[in-house]
Amino acid sequence: MPKPLRGVIRKQFTRFLSATHMARLETWGERLLGVDFTQPMSIDALGLDAARSEKYTPSDAQHLRELLDRLTIRPTDRILDFGCGKGRALRTMGEYPFASTDGVELSPVLAATARQNFARLRVPTRKVEIHQSDAAVFTALDTYTHFYLYNPFPDVVMRVVIANIRASLTRRPRDITVIYYNALCIDAFLADGDFTVVYQSADAEGNRSFIMTLAAPKS
Ligand SMILES: C[S@@+](CC[C@H](N)C(=O)[O-])C[C@H]1O[C@@H](n2cnc3c(N)ncnc32)[C@H](O)[C@@H]1O
Repeated sequence: MPKPLRGVIRKQFTRFLSATHMARLETWGERLLGVDFTQPMSIDALGLDAARSEKYTPSDAQHLRELLDRLTIRPTDRILDFGCGKGRALRTMGEYPFASTDGVELSPVLAATARQNFARLRVPTRKVEIHQSDAAVFTALDTYTHFYLYNPFPDVVMRVVIANIRASLTRRPRDITVIYYNALCIDAFLADGDFTVVYQSADAEGNRSFIMTLAAPKS
């Protein structure tokens, strides 16, 4: 079935179902497929440092679609999810015409689960590659046109990641788009001064989201 038609059917279907029904259906579907994109994991269970990390909770797929629907995505565009966890957001991004939807994840357990999930769904690694690394030291950013964040880490890490994105634009000048869902550290982007907020909204629970652009530096 063509992707646009699938999107329309999904929208009509979800109108009649509550969030709880949707969550139950999703868990049931995951069991059937032998994947786990949605079960949350605490910082303690993951053995992460609370000063540098947030827990794993999956993006709300419907809210993420509302954000992605606002973008004009070219088939050459590539998106990186900073703190991709088990890959819930990457799975939703796969419904859009990105050349690839990759993730970087600190927790080895979550990175392994994400890889397993996409392997089970027979998604090739050229379409979804999971890098296990601290986002602050992951600097292979030059091929990405879009960056996604869903409350992955605190301000101290966010500022380093912003500096890494800026360094990437200096190395390889291009316009980029940042989608930031549950944007608790939005001040770090606003303080930078060069990001332009092109859209903002909130999900059903009041978590704020921003779409920002950053233009190629002038030479
Ligand atoms: C709220 S979850 C978001 C998951 C996924 N992006 C999504 O939207 O479904 C935040 C994720 O960031 C990861 N994370 C936390 N600190 C990190 C860091 N310093 N570098 C990379 N990933 C990190 C956590 O392990 C967790 O999986």
